[in-house]
Amino acid sequence: MQRLKIEGGRKLSGEICVHGAKNAALPLLAACVLAKGETVLHNCPKLSDSYAALRILSCLGCRCKREGDTAIVNTDALAGFDVPDDLMREMRSSIVFLGAILGRCGRCKLSFPGGCELGPRPIDLHIKALRKLGAVIKEEYGLLDCEVPSGLRGSRISLSFPSVGATENIILAASTAKGETVIENAAREPEIADLAGFLNKCGARIKGAGTSRIVIAGVDELFGCEYNVMPDRIVACTYMSAAAVTGSELNIKKVNYHDLTSVIPVFEEMGCTVFPFSDNIYISAKKRLSAVKNVRTMPYPGFPTDAQAILMPPLCTAQGTSVIVENIFESRYRHIDELCRMGARIKTEGRVAVIEGVKTLYGANVMATDLRGGAALVLAGMGAQGETIVSNVKYIDRGYESIETDLTKVGASIVRI
Ligand code: EPZ
Repeated sequence: MQRLKIEGGRKLSGEICVHGAKNAALPLLAACVLAKGETVLHNCPKLSDSYAALRILSCLGCRCKREGDTAIVNTDALAGFDVPDDLMREMRSSIVFLGAILGRCGRCKLSFPGGCELGPRPIDLHIKALRKLGAVIKEEYGLLDCEVPSGLRGSRISLSFPSVGATENIILAASTAKGETVIENAAREPEIADLAGFLNKCGARIKGAGTSRIVIAGVDELFGCEYNVMPDRIVACTYMSAAAVTGSELNIKKVNYHDLTSVIPVFEEMGCTVFPFSDNIYISAKKRLSAVKNVRTMPYPGFPTDAQAILMPPLCTAQGTSVIVENIFESRYRHIDELCRMGARIKTEGRVAVIEGVKTLYGANVMATDLRGGAALVLAGMGAQGETIVSNVKYIDRGYESIETDLTKVGASIVRI
């Protein structure tokens, strides 16, 4: 089991680049199934999750290859519609393949293992929507057996919650359905707009992605194209937090600051200076930070749930008491016990976490419990006194190409052991 050894107290400086977005690359790789011929995805992050998605594509008969930051997928030999259980278990978000495989093959069998590190991961909104588009889905013992006896037909779908995955699955299934589909209360995350941008380049007719109302006019077929994956906004938040927790300044390159409009004000409220430019963000945290009154995680454009854990390390040693409310996932506070082992003073009551700033954190042996919680422990170790060992690094590798390499380049002391 790999671990990261972090020597705290180092100042950071210089430039750090953000890689392609994991949560855009995964639906984009699923969308390749819909496109005939060859698709070339640039800025596709080299993460365990994107490798898992490529393995699913290969298992369906696609020819996949990687050339550095580029993933190339050819679907001419696509033959299967079964996604094996072990691949589904490897990555919860593989459910987004359902809409794409149904759109291309009219048939799909995959297991859905349910809960994950963040608590239950229901897919009722996905299933209900796909049934409205004409899918017949049999669910038993975590296995979904889906077919579309009379083909996918456009429909009006109103989501009770702006689910990112459900919105993506509907867009994928509706792109080549007969007729028009309207999604009301759609998720507005930038990754949705990235998916629509790719599909439209393949010949789809999708309007309104990024807003709550998306209209998809079904087309007969889609063809592969060349596309750039958007930058990862949560990785950008991670590097902002790294500057904040070490009292440093960083120039974060290749990031769309528009994707961070709900995050930047929180770092400013903490006392950081943030200058957003066209494709990079300068952040400086020269003085002791202050607590933030109340941060609530919300669907986009609210504060992202994925940045909740990332935000905690600088708040642990800020002046005053901060309050965070996690409104999206049921149990997304598992990193708190580990932070408390480092001397943080955090109390949770249901969805509310109260962080009382302490003078300093101390290095300790801690365990990553999930992707963003694990990244938070690395950040806490960078700001702490002494040495921190973070185990279960496999969680962190799901969302960061090489967290230790990127942060060491700007001055951190992190070694993978
Ligand atoms: C996506 O997950 C992201 N994953 C998550 O990032 C992110 O935290 C989440 O959106 C919210 O922004 C990917 O894009 C691969 P949801 P997703 O459907 O699609 C409930 C990371 O670490 N819900 O918007 O699963 C659900 O239980 C990951 O990068 C239903 O009740 O998120 C949750 O409480 C973690 N029924 C809430 O909605 C459903 O059918 C948000 O889920 C679907 C979801």
